[in-house]
Amino acid sequence: MLSNILNKVGNTPLVSLKIESLPNIKVFAKLEFYNPTGSVKDRAACYILNRGLNEGIINKNSVIIESSSGNFGVALSAYAKLHGLRFICVIDKNTLPVNEMLIKLQGAEIIKITEPDEYGGYLLNRINKIKTLLKERQDLYWVNQYENPLNAQAYYSSLGKEICLEAPGQKVEYVFMGVSSGGTITGVSRRVKKENPNAKIIAVDIYGSVIFGGKAKKRYIPGIGSSMTPTILDEAFIDDVVMVSEYETIIACKKLLEKYSLYAGGSSGSVYAGINKYFKELNIDHPVNVMCVFADRGERYIETIFNEKWCERIKPYTEDAAIIHG
Ligand SMILES: Cc1ncc(COP(=O)(O)O)c(C=O)c1O
Repeated sequence: MLSNILNKVGNTPLVSLKIESLPNIKVFAKLEFYNPTGSVKDRAACYILNRGLNEGIINKNSVIIESSSGNFGVALSAYAKLHGLRFICVIDKNTLPVNEMLIKLQGAEIIKITEPDEYGGYLLNRINKIKTLLKERQDLYWVNQYENPLNAQAYYSSLGKEICLEAPGQKVEYVFMGVSSGGTITGVSRRVKKENPNAKIIAVDIYGSVIFGGKAKKRYIPGIGSSMTPTILDEAFIDDVVMVSEYETIIACKKLLEKYSLYAGGSSGSVYAGINKYFKELNIDHPVNVMCVFADRGERYIETIFNEKWCERIKPYTEDAAIIHG
């Protein structure tokens, strides 16, 4: 019996996905939407606050602050509440109403940025707001997922470890992950390469994200991609990058539901599309274990990916390189 559902982070199910056109590609997906608040970000939120409290980086009087418009904000609001900590979540005017509601109902204070930055997005202004507040107040602890090494350590010690232990025969040959703050891929890649030095780590990113040097373009699907390159990624081991479009992501999310009964979110679709795209180009003549991370569930995308009308505006986009070899 659990004293609180939030204590059930990690040890998510691993499910096998057969792709008929790629019989040698044995895909195994970690279903991170089985974490308590519904995403992979529970691992980072829980770990960072626990380490912070245990090591005196924060205390009961600290006020946690972070810029997040999605899963991390939802997760941090839950774990901050669990510890009786105040949490300020800096969101923007594009934040999904469902996420804002979840963050608010878990007691977080919300600061909403409405002025776009020089790139037409809100990320830089969200971060500038935090920097201004940090100058004014002494009680704030900025989680700073893009730079905080604890973000990557969370995934090194939990998700990375589970992937290594649960792969059939404990043999990890490929790992595919979506990238946004870079915490997941940095931690998981370091753990996997330590235990399986020949494993290949494949980052999946979305056209319009600048993380791997692509051109900035308006993106609509949250949770994957970024309009800046996260510093934390300097420590990641990445062999190749697969770029997918939002169009491919939508088709893949629907396929996951139709074919495997997996109601998964945007980056899971991107990862599934990325696996298909990557191995279509390679001639793999023996069975290989391909581990992947499905970061969140489909409900949060009911008004976007799973809404036919909304999808009409997303056109195929394939003008740039699809695979960037490391
Ligand atoms: C749905 C989803 N997929 C993937 C990621 C990527 O994780 P990371 O920020 O660790 O790179 C996130 C992060 O917020 C996410 O919400």
